[in-house]
Amino acid sequence: MAEPRNRYSLVSLTFHWGIALLVAVQVGLITVFERYDAAKDPLAGAYIGLHKSVGMTILALTLGRIVWRLMNPAHPLPVAAPRWQNLLARTTHILFYVLLIALPLGGWAASSAAGRAVEWFGLFSLPGLPVPLDRALARTFLDMHEAGVKVLYVLLALHVVGALKHHFIDRDNVLYRMLPILRRRP
Ligand code: HEM
Ligand code: HEM
Repeated sequence: MAEPRNRYSLVSLTFHWGIALLVAVQVGLITVFERYDAAKDPLAGAYIGLHKSVGMTILALTLGRIVWRLMNPAHPLPVAAPRWQNLLARTTHILFYVLLIALPLGGWAASSAAGRAVEWFGLFSLPGLPVPLDRALARTFLDMHEAGVKVLYVLLALHVVGALKHHFIDRDNVLYRMLPILRRRP
């Protein structure tokens, strides 16, 4: 098996870094939202509205990304890496996809159970998910949403440590092929 020198395609790179950026925006929006008094301040509503719109965008992009990924398999990991590391990397990637779908669905379900609209950047309203109108259920969906976010942070930490280990310790091209502004190693 060849060592992984080739960068990912522009489409794969755009999906990866676009979604990563939007996830950072999501966390930023919620951090700002939490500074406001949601009951009194209209700005809080604007931030949560943006959070929902960006979240639904992540859902759509992730579905598109999965279709793309099924048509374009990932590059193999370096043969030198132990099997457990490759398995951990692949498991992390799969769980990322699961969460990038489950988080928006959980948020959407919470809004639907609370009887709140989910608009997409004020352009159109998305239909509610078929869940009962029930405040306690909405709270449960939000608790799941928050728990999912914590798992996402753990995955991200593992993912970044793995990427940095490849780059600085193994000194291979795994990070380069996802971040081709770096210098390619011979
Ligand atoms: C990948 C996409 C998403 C990410 C990464 C994300 C992330 C987060 C984070 C970090 C929080 C704060 C959790 C906490 O306080 O511990 C949160 C809360 C929330 N999210 Fe999301 N979210 C996403 C998608 C969505 C979507 C699509 C919706 C709705 C359609 C949504 C609705 C909410 C709501 C209502 C809250 C609770 C705000 C409050 O404290 O009242 N989220 N989300
Ligand atoms: C929220 C942020 C991020 C998410 C959701 C995410 C998600 C993913 C996913 C799902 C894959 C697998 C692609 C596939 O084969 O289908 C991947 C690959 C990769 N990511 Fe991330 N990523 C994020 C941030 C980062 C960051 C900050 C770095 C660098 C420090 C990074 C470096 C990489 C590398 C190097 C690969 C390629 C691994 C390989 O070639 O097998 N990612 N990422």
